[in-house]
This record gives sequence, structure tokens and C-alpha cells, in this order.
Amino acid sequence: MMDNTKVLEEETSSTSAHKCPWMPTSYVDCTDFELMKKAKIHAAHVLLWSRDEKPVSPYHYDDIELPMQTKILMQVRFDGSFGFPGGFVDELESKVPSSFPKFLELLQQGVCRELFEEMGFGRDTSPSYVYSCHPAGREKDVMLHFFMFQLTPSQMKAISWGSIISTSDEVVGLSLVPLYTMKDGIRGLPTFLTNSFAGNAVEQLLRCILKQGFLSEVEVRKATEVAFKILKKRGGGDLKFEFQSHTHIL
Ligand code: GTP
Ligand code: MN
Repeated sequence: MMDNTKVLEEETSSTSAHKCPWMPTSYVDCTDFELMKKAKIHAAHVLLWSRDEKPVSPYHYDDIELPMQTKILMQVRFDGSFGFPGGFVDELESKVPSSFPKFLELLQQGVCRELFEEMGFGRDTSPSYVYSCHPAGREKDVMLHFFMFQLTPSQMKAISWGSIISTSDEVVGLSLVPLYTMKDGIRGLPTFLTNSFAGNAVEQLLRCILKQGFLSEVEVRKATEVAFKILKKRGGGDLKFEFQSHTHIL
């Protein structure tokens, strides 16, 4: 039998395919602007984060203090999955500029427009570019571009549910990412990682956590391993659920 991964790696010599563990799809990093230009559709998303000077609102549980000094924002999307603000950059569908800096500029503008549509702020921010990738074998269809932007703690605090409700019907919730693992080794980040994520958002999240050093590689690896175990256990169980009437309680 052919080893598909190998074939894929050979086909894309300057890049390597990596499986986004939560999805059946593999993604391939893309640093080649010539290839990027060929994609019909471009989507760009942004990770908003902030860092408090000292841990605020520590969460106490069983006398363990779990400070959340770094806050990462994710959305609960209309389809029930977690993702980042952003979306399709329609401006790039008709014409792609010939220089990479100009291309990045348009992506940035697009991601800011989406940010404003979905969150009611961010029109004038300039998120920094992190990386681009595409679903394996679909480089001509779609490119996924990723950005990060650091907010001040008070900007993070000021993000208002009201403005999101009024600007977007795509967003049904907001969430901070629990950037810790609790004493049982399960709750916290590992449990959060068992949610459903849009596209390769989970990979984008973990990459940024590592890139910025929010958590160590060992912590991230452990959290993903535990998440896999939980997912496997869930999938393997008897999925029958009996509803019981609790009307007698009322
Ligand atoms: P519409 O205007 O309603 O079409 O949506 P949009 O422009 O806001 O696009 P959306 O945010 O849904 O993102 C476009 C594509 O990227 C979708 O096919 C999603 O599956 C995917 N997607 C959504 N969120 C994320 C994310 O956080 N990361 C990645 N990589 N993909 C995402
Ligand atoms: Mn969107």
C-alpha cells in the first residue's frame, strides 16, 4: 500500500503536510507566494490575546490557584464549533497583488474588516502575520492565513457581548482558552481541546501558544495527548442516551 503522507511530502517539497488532529483533513504550510496567488479563495483569521501584569482573578479549586495571566479569545460559531474572528477576504477573489507585502496588507485589511463585523471593534488594528496553510491537495481552492494581535488588558475587558450581538449573527458565544491543566491532568486545556473547531483553528491556537511561549512544549503535548484519550473514549462508548422525565420534581 502507498504511504500517502510520503507522497504528499514529495509533492510539496518545500512544505510538509501535517495532520490537524481534530479533523480528517491534513494541512500543508505554505510560504510560497506564487502558490498563494493561485488560490481562488483566501480566508484570514486572527487570535486576539492580552497579558495581565500580574495574574488576576485567580481561579481557586481544591486550594490550587490557577492564574490566567494570558488571555486568548475564541468565538463559539453559529455551527457550534470554536474558531477565531475573521473570514473570507473577498477583495482577493478578483485580483491578487503582485507583491507579497501588498498582498499581506490586503489580507490585514480584510481580517480587520471581518473583526469589526464580528466583534464590533478592530477596524484600525494591525494584526501581525503568523503563517498560511491550505488543506492538502487543495492549494488552488483555498488558503487559510493566520494573524495575531495583542490587546491591552483593558481592551480585552472592554470586548462587549452587546456589540457582537448587534453586529454578527455568526457568533453565538465568546470564550477564553483555559491555559492551564488542573491537578487531575484532565480539566482545563485538555478538556477544552475536546471541543469541535472550525477548519484548522485548533492547530492555529496551539501554534500560537508555542510561538509566544504561553505554555511549554511539554505542557502542550501532554494536553493534546489527554484530549485524544478523552475523544477516543467518547467515540468508543455506547452512544445511547435515555431521557428521563423529571417532571415529578416540579
Ligand atoms: P460568511 O461571511 O458567513 O461566509 O463567513 P466568514 O467570511 O466570516 O467566514 P468564516 O469565518 O466562516 O471562515 C471561512 C472558512 O474558514 C470557513 O470555511 C470555516 O470553516 C473556516 N474557518 C472558520 N473559522 C476558522 C478559524 O478560526 N480558523 C480556520 N483555519 N478556519 C476557520
Ligand atoms: Mn467569520
